[in-house]
Amino acid sequence: MSAVVDTHGQAHGDDHGYHPSGIMRWITTTNHKDIGTLYLWFSFTMFMIGGAMAMVIRLELFSPGLQWVNPDFFNQMTTMHGLIMVFGAIMPAFVGFANWQIPMMIGAPDMAFARLNNWSFWLLPFAASLLVISFFTPGGAPGVGWTMYAPLTVQMGVGMDLTIFAVHLLGMSSIMGSINIITTILNLRAPGMTLMRMPLFCWTWLITAYLLVAAMPVLAGAVTMTLTDRHFGTSFFNAAGGGDPVLYQHIFWFFGHPEVYIIALPAFGVISQVIPAFSRKPLFGYASMVYATSAIAILSFIVWAHHMYTVGMPVAGQLFFMYATTLIAVPTGVKVFNWVATMWRGSLSFETPMLFAVGFVFLFTLGGMTGLVLSLAAVDIQLHDTYYVVAHFHYVMAIGAVFAGYAGVYFWFPKWTGKMYDETLGKWHFWLSVVFINITFFVQHFSGLAGMPRRVPDYPLMFETWNKISSIGAFGFGIAQFLFLYIIIKAIRSGEQAPERPWEGADSLEWTHLPTPAPHHSFHTPPVLK
Ligand code: CU
Repeated sequence: MSAVVDTHGQAHGDDHGYHPSGIMRWITTTNHKDIGTLYLWFSFTMFMIGGAMAMVIRLELFSPGLQWVNPDFFNQMTTMHGLIMVFGAIMPAFVGFANWQIPMMIGAPDMAFARLNNWSFWLLPFAASLLVISFFTPGGAPGVGWTMYAPLTVQMGVGMDLTIFAVHLLGMSSIMGSINIITTILNLRAPGMTLMRMPLFCWTWLITAYLLVAAMPVLAGAVTMTLTDRHFGTSFFNAAGGGDPVLYQHIFWFFGHPEVYIIALPAFGVISQVIPAFSRKPLFGYASMVYATSAIAILSFIVWAHHMYTVGMPVAGQLFFMYATTLIAVPTGVKVFNWVATMWRGSLSFETPMLFAVGFVFLFTLGGMTGLVLSLAAVDIQLHDTYYVVAHFHYVMAIGAVFAGYAGVYFWFPKWTGKMYDETLGKWHFWLSVVFINITFFVQHFSGLAGMPRRVPDYPLMFETWNKISSIGAFGFGIAQFLFLYIIIKAIRSGEQAPERPWEGADSLEWTHLPTPAPHHSFHTPPVLK
């Protein structure tokens, strides 16, 4: 097989002269850049849909009592908000980055399995459609929470089955994408590109891909057992039939905790590219970053029951999961230390990508700190299912992962499109986002400590002030994201020509152990696969 990639990012290989345009180009594309673009636009679309659901949630919680939606629909909103944001928005965003960047970073002409790559992406719209269609089935979407705990799932209507099939499709997509990433990194590196010379983003994705291959089938098993409990007379999670609903929680969280790092590790990878570039220094402690990432990945498989301290676990079990969980703070601390040490005495500049990256380091660490608080079994039993938990994981996800995503888009946008975005508007996008999202989630620590339960559409009067502040922050953050859409469309349509090295001497390849190629080497003169 031979494939050549021209400067417009179009692949010309064994395609027998087939060059579709318009919609057919996007449906049939096997080009990693096209597929990366598809992933990123899909991700942003899902981000806005999941965000609209968050707006419904915050609107209802603006005041005590029931104003806008009934409790059942509220539960459907929290469920679909979670599923869509995790599987539809955040994960595909980082797969989009992987598609764009990994082949260019390691000097490969494309992903290893180009057609599998196409199929990995095109499963996603079908999965998302199943989730949306579930709203229009009798009984609506399942209001069971994104964790889909048994035995509640058994009572739900056909919307539950659609959700289960959606999870199957999402899992297939992730597993195929991971196989592609692992194979590409292990087999298609350019000569001289040893593993320990790869940009750290490639390392974090290599490790994430192994996490996905190990964790996604476990989730598929959990929802398949739910399916057979619902329709085929099994009793995996039904105590009346000899099963155990707590078994579901064990299986789900054996997937669910690694899932946290499936999201976080690629975010760490993006940050590890952006911070060295805007510090004009190589990443501090490259090897320790690789080992810390691996350590986090391994530890992530032995901490799952810290989500289940209240199920009646023996004290010995609580202690094991508590100590194992607190241990993760060590490699995570190594990473934060290295990012700060990279900036230390660097030639810093604060364009939009760096602002989002520094915001990430500070706010993700804050979310990590509350994670440490929640890892303590004695504390967690008090805070379980309160808004303190909601605040914690939104600092890690809604702020951490999303900020890393924005850092990556602004950082690589000039390289991807050859155009510059409006830096002033980009900075506005950052400052509006960082202010409003902290207004949204910081106060939830307080309502949570005061005992406000999560996943409830109504609450006592005493929680009203914190909820009003939180809702105002959420509306502001939501509106600010339209500014991002405007910035991107404006840049694509009428952005200025991007300079060869948009970041004043800094370049993502330059500072990350590549054997100093010409800037944008693989963008303009890609290697040819024989
Ligand atoms: Cu966890």
